[in-house]
Amino acid sequence: MRILHVVGARPNFMKVAPIMAAMRKHPDCFQQTLVHTGQHYDYRMSQVFFEDLDLPEPDDHLEVGSGTHAEQTARVLLSFEPALIKHKPDWVFVVGDVNSTLACALVCAKLGVPVAHVEAGLRSFDRSMPEEINRLLTDQIADLLFTPSPDGDENLLREGIAAEKIHRVGNVMIDTLTRLLPRARSRPILTELGLKRSEYVLVTLHRPSNVDSPATLQEILSALSELGKTREVVFPLHPRTRERIRQWGLEPTGIHIMEPLRYLDFLALEENAAFVLTDSGGVQEETTFLGVPCLTARPSTERPITVTRGTNRLVASNRRAILDAVNELDFLPRPPASPPDLWDGHAAERITEVMLQIANG
Ligand code: UD1
Ligand code: UDP
Repeated sequence: MRILHVVGARPNFMKVAPIMAAMRKHPDCFQQTLVHTGQHYDYRMSQVFFEDLDLPEPDDHLEVGSGTHAEQTARVLLSFEPALIKHKPDWVFVVGDVNSTLACALVCAKLGVPVAHVEAGLRSFDRSMPEEINRLLTDQIADLLFTPSPDGDENLLREGIAAEKIHRVGNVMIDTLTRLLPRARSRPILTELGLKRSEYVLVTLHRPSNVDSPATLQEILSALSELGKTREVVFPLHPRTRERIRQWGLEPTGIHIMEPLRYLDFLALEENAAFVLTDSGGVQEETTFLGVPCLTARPSTERPITVTRGTNRLVASNRRAILDAVNELDFLPRPPASPPDLWDGHAAERITEVMLQIANG
């Protein structure tokens, strides 16, 4: 069976790596191809993950780069179509909810190539998020839907997806985390940054709703500067955020600002943080697995299980709300690490089992 995997943006690499590794154990059954759309292209947003995650170099690089939603999506459509025709896969795997995910799934649907969506069924119920549109549409046209948690199955069934297409396999991002945690623990990043275990805050922000409005970004940065007076704050900047801070001259003071971190260093910082402030999808999940308190600066989450597990809390994107939430955290016991069912490091093996059954038909 010929399988073509698509990667495009940072959170895709952690999801594809374990699936490719699991399928590689069945060379008699699977021939795999990797296509990189080039949605993310900076060394620290792309190539560094090939090194940390042991991903093979892509067979094709579409080099679509940045642009408006229409430009970026259209460039993926135009450049993925010939790649699909050239490679003639039996199945295409897309992961997550970025523009590359939807665009490649759409090309497949139009050419009649079966497509599998990994991390299907997540819903924030907020259609102002570009990712929610990508999730909804990809799931409608996917032929196989691999979900990480029961809410995913429920959402898909409610939207009329046939039950036989849905397979709850767990969380592939946690496959990567469990595999690489021992390696992350041997990284000297805490020492290099002069940080002590459980005594610093790790921050990531990149949602347009937080960083594309100068007023909102200023509110959040002002909260970070305030936090920086009493503790170390570590803030690797996503390129979107770096650009907005530069554009509006909002450089925060008294905190550690840095380039995006490589996976192993980020994981080491995540595991040892007092708490994490984020708007990332993946970081909400990783902190749930690790039992690290997480404040998510968003009005909703497509990963409600991270909230019900007790590690994650939604907080409004303003200075007062963030500082109040931090004060409350200081008085709460650390939540236990209680990974949801099937977030066990074996999700990609379960995906592979499903594909083996289809191949042996
Ligand atoms: C994208 C995804 C988002 C995901 C995030 C992960 C969509 C709609 N959004 O958001 O769901 O959570 O990736 O990180 O697909 N840029 C660089 N270098 C790069 C990449 C981007 O400088 O390597 C800058 C460019 O100015 C670009 C901006 O970042 O315009 C935004 O990049 P884009 O891929 O459009 O969206 P993200 O915010 O990264
Ligand atoms: N991550 C990383 N370096 C960083 C910030 C995040 O390696 O500086 C990892 C993080 O551990 C997680 C993934 O990137 O595995 C999440 O990606 P991102 O937040 O960009 O996207 P989202 O999950 O919000 O779509």
